[in-house]
This record gives sequence, C-alpha cells and structure tokens, in this order.
Amino acid sequence: PPTSISEVSHVKTMDQYKEMYKQSVEEPGKFWGKIAETFYFKKQHEGEFFDYNLDIRKGEVYIRCLSDATTNICYNCLDRNVKSGHGDTIAFYWEGNDPMDSTSITYKKLLDEVCKFSNVLKSLGVKKGDRVAIYMPMILELVVAMLACARIGAVHSIVFGGFSAEALSSRILDAKCDVLVTADGVYRGTKLIDLKSIADEALELCTKDGHSVSACVVVKHITANSYCDDKTERPAMRPYSGFKMSWNKAVDRSWEDLMQSASNECEPEWMNSEDPLFILYTSGSTGIPKGVLHHVSGYMLYAATTHKYTFDYHCGEVYFCTADIGWITGHTYITYGPLLNCATSVMFEGTPLFPDASRYWAIVDKYKVSKFYTAPTAIRSLMKYGEEPIRKYSRSSLKVLGTVGEPINPEAWLFYHKVIGNESCSIVDTFWQTETGGHVLTPFPGCTPTKPGSATFPFFGIVPAILSDEGVEIEGPGEGYLVFKQPWPGMMRTVFGDHKRFERTYFTKFPGYYVPGDGCKRDEDGYIWITGRIDDMINVSGHLLSTAEVESSLIEHPQVAEAAVVSKPHSVKGECLYCFVTVLQGSEFNKELVKELKEKVRHHIGAFSTPDYIQNAPGLPKTRSGKIMRRVLRNVAKGNRDLGDVSTMADASVVEVLFQNRDYTV
Ligand code: WT7
Repeated sequence: PPTSISEVSHVKTMDQYKEMYKQSVEEPGKFWGKIAETFYFKKQHEGEFFDYNLDIRKGEVYIRCLSDATTNICYNCLDRNVKSGHGDTIAFYWEGNDPMDSTSITYKKLLDEVCKFSNVLKSLGVKKGDRVAIYMPMILELVVAMLACARIGAVHSIVFGGFSAEALSSRILDAKCDVLVTADGVYRGTKLIDLKSIADEALELCTKDGHSVSACVVVKHITANSYCDDKTERPAMRPYSGFKMSWNKAVDRSWEDLMQSASNECEPEWMNSEDPLFILYTSGSTGIPKGVLHHVSGYMLYAATTHKYTFDYHCGEVYFCTADIGWITGHTYITYGPLLNCATSVMFEGTPLFPDASRYWAIVDKYKVSKFYTAPTAIRSLMKYGEEPIRKYSRSSLKVLGTVGEPINPEAWLFYHKVIGNESCSIVDTFWQTETGGHVLTPFPGCTPTKPGSATFPFFGIVPAILSDEGVEIEGPGEGYLVFKQPWPGMMRTVFGDHKRFERTYFTKFPGYYVPGDGCKRDEDGYIWITGRIDDMINVSGHLLSTAEVESSLIEHPQVAEAAVVSKPHSVKGECLYCFVTVLQGSEFNKELVKELKEKVRHHIGAFSTPDYIQNAPGLPKTRSGKIMRRVLRNVAKGNRDLGDVSTMADASVVEVLFQNRDYTV
C-alpha cells in the first residue's frame, strides 16, 4: 500500500535500497565502517571490519568485527547523547499498568541513575565479565540495571518476569550469576505477581545446587513506586497493606538504600568490541535453554542501524515497542536501539487489555506515538474486540506499524493496516531471532511495496538463501530451508559456556551457512515468506517453546510413562501446545491428572507455557525404529484424518484409538 512518508524516509526508493544493500553485502567493511564513525570508540579499529569462519569443515566457527577497537555501549547510549545537547530530551515515557501511573526520564537523569547503579554494582563486588541476573517487571529500574551492567562491563542475563522459579534458577546456575536484581512485585491487569517470593524460591534452588548469589537487590516498586509522578493512593488498585515481602538479611539489599549513597559519576569500562555484552536464554530443541551471547560493538551497530531504518526513526519522534525487555525484542528495540539513536520511547508496564481493549491506542494518543511495534498475537487478541475500541482514539500520529515474533496471518496484517493504521501507515513485518540480534528480513517503510504475510527482503548486510533437503541453493521461486551465507555485525557469537553447541545447532546441518531453523518460500517477485519452524519448536504467542522441554516436565509426573507434545493452530496465540500423555499401567487419566500436569509445566517453565490440551494416549504412533511420528500427532490434534504416508508406522492401530480419545480430551 502507498504511504506518504517516503519523501522524508531514510531510504526513499527501492532503487536506493538496492544500491545500499549491494554495498552492504559486497563491501561490508566500508558500509559498517561508515556507520561505526557515528559512534564513539575509545580506540579505533585498524584492519578489516570482519574476521570470520562460518564453515565448520574449515575449523572452528567464529565471527568477530572491529576486533581491536574499544568502546562502551552505555556511553554511546547515554553520555554521547547528553554531550551532543540531548540531556533534556526524554529517553522514556514510562506508562504504568494502572493508567494513572506514569512518569518520564531524560537522558541526563537516566545517565545519573545508571552511574549510581554502576557504583552500587561495583560496591557489591561486581567486576568486568561477571554475570548479573535481572528478573524484573517493565519499570525504569530495569533499564537502569541493564545499562549499569553494560557500563562496568558486567554481562547481564535478563530473565523474563513470567518465568517460574525453576526456570529462573536454572538460568542463574548456568551463567553462575553473582548478583540478582529483582523487584517486590508487579501488577499485570488486576493480578498481582509476587516476584520477590519467586526470586526467593529460585535462589533457594540455586543454593541447593551449590551456587549462592552474593546479593539480591530488590526494587520496591509496588510498595513504594519511587518513579511515579502521581503519588495518590489508589487502594483499589494497589492493596499495599496486604502485601508482605519476605526479607533475607544475608543477601537481600534494598535498591533505594543502595542508590541513596551512591555517586552519580562512573567512568565507563572501555570494552573490547568482542567482549560479551549480555546473555539471553532461548529455547533449544533438546529442551535445555541456550544462553545466546551477544558482544559489544557488533550488536551496538546492528541494534542502532536496524532501529533507524526499519522504523525509519527520526529524532524527535515518539516510538513505542510493546514487548517485554525480558525478550530480545525488548533488549534491542526498547533499550539499546532506541537509546543509541537518541530516541524518545514509551515503556509500558501493562497489558493491551487493561483496563480495556483500548489501552494501546490511549497510550498512542497520549504520547503522540508515531512508530509502533507489537506482535501478531496482540493484534489477533485485539481483533476479537472489534473496531470500536480502536476507533475511539484518533491514532493520527502513527506512521509505521511493526510486527514480530511469528508469521503474521494476512487477516491480522490487513486489520493492522486498515483498522489500526487507518490505511495510512507502513506495515513492517520483521523476521529475526534472539540469535540474530536484530531484524534480518524486513520491509523498509515508505519504500518496500509490501504483501500481507511476507517479511519481504533482507536487511543491509544479510544474504539469505533457500536450500533444498540436499542442501542445494534454490534460485528463483521455491520453498526450503532459510539460511544465511554471510555474517552480520549483530549475529550471536557463541552459546554461553558451550561453543560446540553453537556450532552443532546453527552450522552443522548445512556446512558453510547459518541455519536459523525456519522454513521459507520465495515467490515470483523474490519476496520471502516464512513458513514456520523446521525443528521441534512451537511458537506460542511469539514465544518459542521446545517440545522436548515441555515433554520432560510432563514425564516428571509419577503417573506418566510417556509424553509427546505437538502444536495445534490457535486463533489468538498462533500455535498452542497439544500434549499426548501415556499413563503408567494402573494409573487413571482424569481431570485431576490433567490439572497436575498443567501445573507441572507452569512450574517448570512459566505460565505462558501452560498447555491448552492434554489428551490420553494409550499408545503413541511410532516408526519401526521407535521414533515418535509427530506429523501424525499434529493431524490428530487438528482432527485431520488425512494422515499421509504412514507406511513406516510400527502399529497403525494406535492412531484410531487416539482419534477416539480426542473427544475425551479434558
Ligand atoms: C523465531 C525466533 C525476534 C524476536 C521475537 C522472537 C519466529 C520471529 C517472525 C516473523 C515469522 C517469525 C521464527 C524465528 N519469528 N519473527 N516476522 N515472521 N516468524 O524471538 O524467541 O528468538 O524466536 O520466531 O520462527 O526463528 P525468538
């Protein structure tokens, strides 16, 4: 659809995109080198921009860029902008869960707070290279904590606030974090989540496993709300009085107390380009989450550049990304990308449906948001409420609407464009991953002609290809495995503590290529369409879950003999979990068991991973060699009796039993 913003866009025409793209892939050093000049490096790099080997047959896989330069990403996010006269520019408008809670913070003030917390971390013994776990709600202290880590060279490992104690503890253990930063609790809608008690339980589990953190810094958010401008008591919303926080004198430290005496001056740690910046865990197909590791300079250049071009961001505009910082989208497109571009962003604590389904649009009008970024699952959940809650607000400031996390169905795409965007905004369907650091396939607003459901073309520096089963590149229209042929600055460098796993996961299936794990097709016009995962991962509301991880939670139950989890299409979540469970002989499959099993999964991973269906499976369809035939189970889940080729199945009679049991799914 045509848009009127191309006259002012960073990239105005497809010809210009093609020209810039060509340079970015043919002379990446020149292209990224020029961008690097806009950032501050303490020591400049000499020599080639990239140094890499993606081909496992030639030896260890590695990717390095600007490898002898030194810089600090926090300095580039804050000090650089303050020094260039943007001290009074708003970095974040913070909008609370309760519509009456809001505040804002300037670049100068954010820098002060970050320096203070940097000094706090140092006083707790945190040094360059140490890992700090962060388990927090969407509050400004979260941004302060992560930037403080970056400033002193500590590696932050943020764990999404929806993860369970068990999931948090396994992440703290894997990275051997010395310090945990958390908060008392948070409201999501009217529901109170007691983060501190989850954190307590996680730390206990860590201690049992032989690793104790030296300090747990706790922000009093719901019990004090220090950042909130409006101090009116709202007892209906915040029953403070009923909230009792546990306090363990041995490790717990109060954020407020520590900050009070901290100095607001802190010289940044000058980091080598290839020093680690953060760990972020993502599901792995074996069931054990992988600590994706990103490094300073490459990630910095890529976060800034993708944010600038994909959203066509211009200084002074208000930008709003609805993600949680606990996921990569929040890391790159709430914290680092926007701050590197001196942007003014909205940081939102709440949910799209509270107090009603208009909330996003109320925020858009309140702050005159022009660039908006959300997930297909959010769009689909809003579609259910019709157009009225949207039409109630003008949304006239909107120019670019982004989506991320999963393939967007054309119906949701069109709703986004026609209703939410009033047919006057560019839609950018951005394909990327935790591993890629930033967008790898995306339209450019006001420039790329879009097609509903296609992530269109590669971003600068990205060279995609489509491979057949045999690993042969498919030219022209066709379908196969999506791969990338060249490194780009923001690409992950390794899996924390397990470089072999990094090589095995991404570089072994098709040597010489980075394999993200998604299938795709290319149409006659060269547009790329993501078709979904090619591995055993399930994308629930934009969150990747590994079937193996869910299965291992189910099998923990003493009455379960075997379990197999597949995806079933879901009208809002995109996909949901459908679990087949074989109970031990003598055990009964009943409602009680189903309840316990759902609880097991929540406990192991988090509430967002709760299965929608758990069905009794007296037997599972298997090949003669004993491999579970998931393709058949997916059809049972969908109620599709057209099973395709089942000649390799050991005992075909189990399938009929599964179809009969389908009706008794609890
Ligand atoms: C996987 C990565 C990137 C931030 C959120 C998810 C799927 C992501 C799209 C899109 C189709 C998408 C892919 C990818 N995915 N964006 N625009 N179209 N699929 O990060 O948890 O690392 O998941 O999400 O399957 O591999 P993640």
